[in-house]
Order: sequence, then C-alpha cells, then structure tokens
Amino acid sequence: MKTLVTGGAGFIGGNFVHYQLKHHPDDTIICLDALTYAGNMGTLKGVLTNPKFSFVQASIADREAVYAIFEQEKPDTVVNFAAESHVDRSIEDPGLFLQTNIMGTGVLLDACRKFGVGRFHQVSTDEVYGDLPLERTDLFFTEETPLHTSSPYSASKAAADLLALAYFRTFKLPVTVSRCSNNYGPYHFPEKLIPLMIINALSDKALPVYGKGENIRDWLYVEDHCSAIDLIIRGGRVGEVYNIGGHNERTNLQVVKTILHALNKPESLIRFVTDRPGHDLRYAIDATKIKQELGWAPETTFDTGIQTTIQWYLNNEDWWRDVLDGSYRAYYERMYHNR
Ligand code: NAD
Ligand code: DAU
Repeated sequence: MKTLVTGGAGFIGGNFVHYQLKHHPDDTIICLDALTYAGNMGTLKGVLTNPKFSFVQASIADREAVYAIFEQEKPDTVVNFAAESHVDRSIEDPGLFLQTNIMGTGVLLDACRKFGVGRFHQVSTDEVYGDLPLERTDLFFTEETPLHTSSPYSASKAAADLLALAYFRTFKLPVTVSRCSNNYGPYHFPEKLIPLMIINALSDKALPVYGKGENIRDWLYVEDHCSAIDLIIRGGRVGEVYNIGGHNERTNLQVVKTILHALNKPESLIRFVTDRPGHDLRYAIDATKIKQELGWAPETTFDTGIQTTIQWYLNNEDWWRDVLDGSYRAYYERMYHNR
C-alpha cells in the first residue's frame, strides 16, 4: 500500500504514521502537512530516516500543490487527518476552520477523483452528532444518529463528512468515514484538556476547568484509534461510516483529579473558569458496527492509558517544552486571562 497521510505531523496523524510503519513495514507512507501551530516535526523524529517514509510540507487547501503531490506520488490510499482541530480556536476564528476542514477536504476529494485512488478515508469526530444529556447514560451515538453540530469546528467536520459521502454517491469514489471520540496519548498538543492539565500540574500552575467540570467525554487511547482506522482502510465497506469509541466515559473533573492524584499534586490547583460557549454536555459512542464488521475493540482502558500518557509527558519534557513557544504562550494568555 502507498498511503498519503495528511496532517501526519499532528497528534493522531503522527501516531498513525508510527503505527503504520511499525505494523506494515512494507507499506510506503507519504506525509503531507502544512505545519501549522499544531504540526510538529519532533513528532516524526523517529521515522524521518525510514526509507518507506517521506514528508511534504503543503496545505490540503492548496489545489496546485496537492495535485502535484498526487501526480508525483500516485498514492493508492489517502487518510485525511489534516484539520483545524480545537473547538475553542474555532470559536475565536471560524473562517480558518471552513477553509481547511471543508475546502481542504474538497481539494483532496477532487485530487482523488482526478488521479484515482483505491480508498479515501475521512477522519471525523463524534462531535458531528452534537451532545447527549448528562443524565441519560442509556443513550449513545450510533452511525444513524442525526448530525446536530454545536461549534464552528464540529459544523466544519460535518460538512467535510457529507462532502466525502457525496463523492461516494455521485462519483463512486471509494470513500469511508470514521467518527471517533476524544483521543489522548503521546504527542497530544497541550491546548487540549489532558496534556494541558498534565503540563500545568507539573508546573504547579492553575488547572482551568470549564463550568463545573461535569461535562463528559468518552476517552480513547490514540493507538486504539489508529488500529481502528487501519482496519477500516483495509477491510471497511466503501460508502460507510464507522463509529470508534471505547466506553471510557469520565467527567472532566474526574479526569483532572486523576491527573493531580497521579502526579501527587493538590486539588487546590483546580480553578473553575467561565464555561465554553455552546459547550457540548456528553459524548458517548456505540461502536458495535466496527466491532461486528471488522472485529475491532479497544485494547487500553482509561486507567492504564492515562498512566502511560502521564509517564510519556514526564519522559518527553523536551517535546512539550519545544511546543510551548511564543505563539502558544500568546494563545494561552488570550484564552485564559481574566476568564
Ligand atoms: P492536531 O491539531 O493535533 O493536528 C492537525 C494536523 O493537521 C497538524 O499537524 C497540522 O499542521 C495539520 N494541518 C492543519 N491544517 C492543515 C492544512 N491546511 N493542510 C495540511 N495540514 C494541515 O489534530 P488531531 O487531534 O491530531 O486531529 C486529527 C484529526 O482527527 C482531525 O481531523 C480531527 O478532527 C480528528 N479527530 C480528533 C480527535 C481528538 O480527540 N483529537 C477525535 C476525533 C477526531
Ligand atoms: O470528541 C472528539 C473531539 O475531541 C475532537 O473532534 C476534537 O478535535 C478534540 O479537540 C476534542 O474536542 P473537545 O472539545 O472534547 O476536547 P478538549 O480537550 O478541548 O476539551 C475536553 C473537555 O474539557 C471539554 O468538555 C472542555 C473541557 N476543557 C478543555 C480545556 C482545553 C476544560 O474544562 N478546560 C480546558 O482548559
């Protein structure tokens, strides 16, 4: 297989590159990434000398550059991770999300039509389903749950999903879509809840919890997401959507307290701050379809995965200290000052 991985210098895309090269050493990977604030070549350090791996810096929204890459590389599989991924940033600046997540996906789909591929896989999110009530723990998102987005981020991801599925129906492009719950693990950018809380706790800084911290997320260790996508691109049915999630539901406060406890830090570091506008209450995935069709099941429980993740941040201080550069500090100040 010759796979074009877009957004491969980011959190999940980077983990996917490592996963593919480890589990399918005969396959070739071309990573296309714009290296926005979230892209980090440090994440790919371990594979840069692998002859089966190459990297191209380009935006998925740059039609000319994308077509040139397809013409030269002729990938047979495309996995699209590239996106603006942070909900809070989408509330600050929605336009960039429309440009990358919708227009960029459109350019990739056009390239796939023009040059021909065996599979285009769109990496989507459970956020396209909106949220579930906190008290209805009997409810889960299935692939049939109507799309009902809350943020500019999730709306842009829903638009990209629909576009991909439209290219399947109209042009017979071999498309699959996966919708995954919240990931955590190594190389997670420290604007997101878990790495932000680990790093703030390590620095004895306040841990900003939105609202009352009662919102629920369904956490999945990133390697389990990678294994699910791997099964879908090799055996998933085209035109289908697959939900991915591990039944690891936790309130944000539970997650934050687990991190503080593991690091032996006091709960007095928790600071309740103004809630996120439009904040989704609860996400919970029903992953029956991928389990039944492809035999996928997550291997890592939250209790194990969170300890592994904390240990990774303790062992890889160089990686996250490099990330905390000037532009990230300015964002942090803007987002949390006076909140
Ligand atoms: P991330 O923000 O860590 O990484 C995104 C990557 O995309 C970065 O390397 C960035 O440089 C690159 N990128 C951004 N704009 C680009 C462009 N125009 N052209 C090329 N590259 C560009 O994101 P992530 O958390 O790794 O998420 C990856 C994908 O998975 C996204 O599509 C996201 O919507 C989806 N997803 C994320 C989660 C999660 O919990 N993080 C869960 C489900 C789905
Ligand atoms: O569900 C999948 C989605 O998960 C992905 O599609 C997104 O790309 C990814 O960013 C993530 O979205 P969330 O908004 O759920 O993740 P985030 O880490 O930003 O926030 C998790 C929860 O923690 C959410 O309820 C908001 C809360 N939170 C977040 C931050 C950054 C806080 O309480 N304090 C914070 O400082």
